[in-house]
Amino acid sequence: MTAMTLNSVNFGAAKAVNFEYVGLKVHQNITGARPHSVKFVPRALTVNAGEAQGGGPVKKLGKSDEECEAAVVAGIVPEAPPVPPKPAAPAGTPLATPLPLSRRPRRNRRSPVLRAAFQETSISPANLVYPLFIHEGEEDTPIGAMPGCYRLGWRHGLVEEVAKARDVGVNSIVLFPKVPDALTTSTGDEAYNDNGLVPRTIRLLKDKYPDLIIYTDVALDPYSSDGHDGIVREDGVILNDETVHQLCKQAVSQARAGADVVSPSDMMDGRVGAIRAALDAEGFQHVSIMSYTAKYASSFYGPFREALDSNPRFGDKKTYQMNPANYREALIETHEDEAEGADILLVKPGLPYLDIIRLLRDNSSLPVAAYQVSGEYSMIKAGGALKMIDEERVMMESLMCLRRAGADIILTYFALQAARCMCGEKR
Ligand code: PBG
Repeated sequence: MTAMTLNSVNFGAAKAVNFEYVGLKVHQNITGARPHSVKFVPRALTVNAGEAQGGGPVKKLGKSDEECEAAVVAGIVPEAPPVPPKPAAPAGTPLATPLPLSRRPRRNRRSPVLRAAFQETSISPANLVYPLFIHEGEEDTPIGAMPGCYRLGWRHGLVEEVAKARDVGVNSIVLFPKVPDALTTSTGDEAYNDNGLVPRTIRLLKDKYPDLIIYTDVALDPYSSDGHDGIVREDGVILNDETVHQLCKQAVSQARAGADVVSPSDMMDGRVGAIRAALDAEGFQHVSIMSYTAKYASSFYGPFREALDSNPRFGDKKTYQMNPANYREALIETHEDEAEGADILLVKPGLPYLDIIRLLRDNSSLPVAAYQVSGEYSMIKAGGALKMIDEERVMMESLMCLRRAGADIILTYFALQAARCMCGEKR
């Protein structure tokens, strides 16, 4: 009950879900979080006898401090309520001698106020980045494996979705394009078409929402007729340096359109340094690089590849994405990305890779991002739809756990839904 009260005071609406342990911070720029359910009644100046018993202040008799003290010294002590009786345990509870424990950690967990006071991690809409799929169409096309996600029309559905996110304090997005098949080639040159889907969309969004932070994906897969993140040689080898050349042009084209953070997700070697140099050479010193530092060759990307129809036409991505069995290798990538000038280090996927998030957090001073990927999203959605888990609670817990592991920001398809929860909105 107290938890509910806290929640409604902070976020303006009572909710069925107890987020007391989540410790949500009020976000300054949340426009949708009006405390409409909380009425601030001015303190009454006079108190009647009935109220005095009910917990309000006791009626004043006009005595001075000295008179009050003298009365107590003389043994005339004002009444206060007795200590409540010890609550009874159920019949049959064994009589046990108290264990001689010097430390009982449950003491700090015994009330919502104490739990909130000692909560170590918090999460707010400001920590979330909302990945959005866009296409050339006017309608929004549902993505079968990702309930609630759509390929959004870049001039229609997308603009509305961004407005909804901003309403609850999510002002950062990352764009993933579905480009027409006819524009894909083996060298992915559409990736740096200044009038391509992504640059056009960036310009539109920046025109409407100048303070929106736009992250872009830097990789060739949406533009590659092979569905790979790099250029494929005839023997199937993914060319590294030639791909980096294309990625630099892609990043510059995105920056030119107004991207705030370019995010190489391709896992080619040396691309962060090369992209930094290319951006700087073109006058984009202010554009940040979020490097997919530790991106694993994961089966959790399945629904995403359906969303963009970006499954590799042959083979897999194991010659560039990391082996899920590897831990130390993430440190090699971290040191490279730091040296090459990355501004943010990203770990992907999220929940199955909490140890890697912690590893980066402990070994770098740079901000760490976690990507809660499509498969993680879909599993929670499916479990919720089948009533096997409480979708909303599992969603909030998974995001909190990513923060606890050390993520500063989280890329998540739940960004809008989670931010609405944090704002006390139920949809
Ligand atoms: C590709 C890219 C992928 C994702 C983001 N960028 C897929 C891949 O590497 O095949 C996956 C995101 C997700 O699964 O949510 N550049």
